[in-house]
Amino acid sequence: MLQIFADPGELARGAAEHFVARCNGAVQQRALFTVALSGGSTPRLLYQLLANPDESFRDRIPWSNIHFFWSDERHVPPDHPDSNYRMANEALLSHVPISENNVHRVLSENADASAAAEAYESTLWVLADDGLPRLDLILLGLGTDGHTASIFPGSEVLHETRRLVAAPWVEKLKAYRITMTLPLLNNGASVMFLVSGKEKAQIVKEVLEDPKKYPAQEVRPTNGELLWLLDEDAAGHKEEQKNQKD
Ligand code: 6PG
Repeated sequence: MLQIFADPGELARGAAEHFVARCNGAVQQRALFTVALSGGSTPRLLYQLLANPDESFRDRIPWSNIHFFWSDERHVPPDHPDSNYRMANEALLSHVPISENNVHRVLSENADASAAAEAYESTLWVLADDGLPRLDLILLGLGTDGHTASIFPGSEVLHETRRLVAAPWVEKLKAYRITMTLPLLNNGASVMFLVSGKEKAQIVKEVLEDPKKYPAQEVRPTNGELLWLLDEDAAGHKEEQKNQKD
């Protein structure tokens, strides 16, 4: 499913509606909702909206039934400005009634990124009943190079078939990342890409239209739904309209 929203605010609102619907659906079924949060800047508005008591979402969410995970993390301590955990905690988790036992962050302060990835994988296996762990909702973003989570173009993680979490060295960032791998992402019940901004329009066009060449195109849930939520800038609509006018 592809949905296009007028602006980043409407995009966050649309994503919040999907979050609430999938959360209540899962909780009705099994009194549990497992969600992997994405990092970067785009989901911040969504997180703030979900936590905002003056908005209509917070009171529609059974917070105590939710377990939070991360689709990827930077190899930095949780109080570091680049930490995806820190961003989500400041924008959402510290403002809602959630027990810290329900917040499963990557222990990215571990100097050994591979050990942090292994530890995170064992945390996720707790979710498995038969087969691989299956998250109810996985949030993802899209980089201008076509990466998603921390699966970058040319990364060996693209070929990972066994591990659920990996710690690739990302040469262009000169840093390790800890990321869920494709077997886990593609076992999600619902995978939702949030993409905003005109700097993403070109990669969105290629990822949605061109034959496979980007990591984001490898995300195709085997038995789940795939949602692309874009704002008009990322959909290139505004550019198109401008060109048509010219
Ligand atoms: C991260 C993310 C990454 C992000 C994209 C888009 O840790 O950086 O998980 O995959 O989603 O880079 O980032 P923006 O939302 O900041 O454009």
